[in-house]
Amino acid sequence: MQVSPSLLAADFVNLAKDIDMINRSDADMLHLDVMDGIFVPNISFGFPVMDAVAKICSKPLDVHLMIMNPERWVSQVRDLGAGIMNFHQEACVHMYSLVQDIHKVGMKAAVTLCPSTPVSVLKDIIEELDMVLLMSVEPGFGGQKFISHTLAKIAELRKLIYASGSRALIEIDGGVNAETAPMLAKSGADVLVAGSYVFNAKDPVATIADLKKL
Ligand code: DX5
Ligand code: ZN
Repeated sequence: MQVSPSLLAADFVNLAKDIDMINRSDADMLHLDVMDGIFVPNISFGFPVMDAVAKICSKPLDVHLMIMNPERWVSQVRDLGAGIMNFHQEACVHMYSLVQDIHKVGMKAAVTLCPSTPVSVLKDIIEELDMVLLMSVEPGFGGQKFISHTLAKIAELRKLIYASGSRALIEIDGGVNAETAPMLAKSGADVLVAGSYVFNAKDPVATIADLKKL
């Protein structure tokens, strides 16, 4: 299992300490949640903070844009040195062009779906994607309860990926913890995002290592 801890649950007063923990851990990526207060009812952090984080983080950045008009921000995300840019299907009309633009500047492209958006909206773009991020909570806040319908969506997405020959990985975001992570692994998730479960743990490095073993 790949693990992408979400910085949203980190201690913002001591970010350097938490990034150091991530660097020492087995985490595959660092998940950065960008919110605009319009697409989601919350505002998190933006490019000045992510620039600072990028300077000291040795893991690839997994940037999750919960913002309207994600196509405006491709070059800024690239300038962070990010490995992957996730944008929401619900916030983008011209997904095909945006995926091409993300690839053109050397990043991987991922489309994110809210819990109520069906997997079928990806049918005609799945072959172009490196990853699909299924939200297992409504986007906007950490620490919410896992929506169990996500398990059925993983199975459906896996079928679509196989049928199309797509290379896309399946990433899950929201409510990942000791109880839900094994179910997600069994259902076929490739990457787990975990915020509060990792950063509120007594031993975050060990918690990441446990998720990796799934
Ligand atoms: C929510 C974010 C998540 C969030 C997950 O909108 O996309 O990445 O940090 O938090 P937990 O793991 O606490 O549910
Ligand atoms: Zn996220």
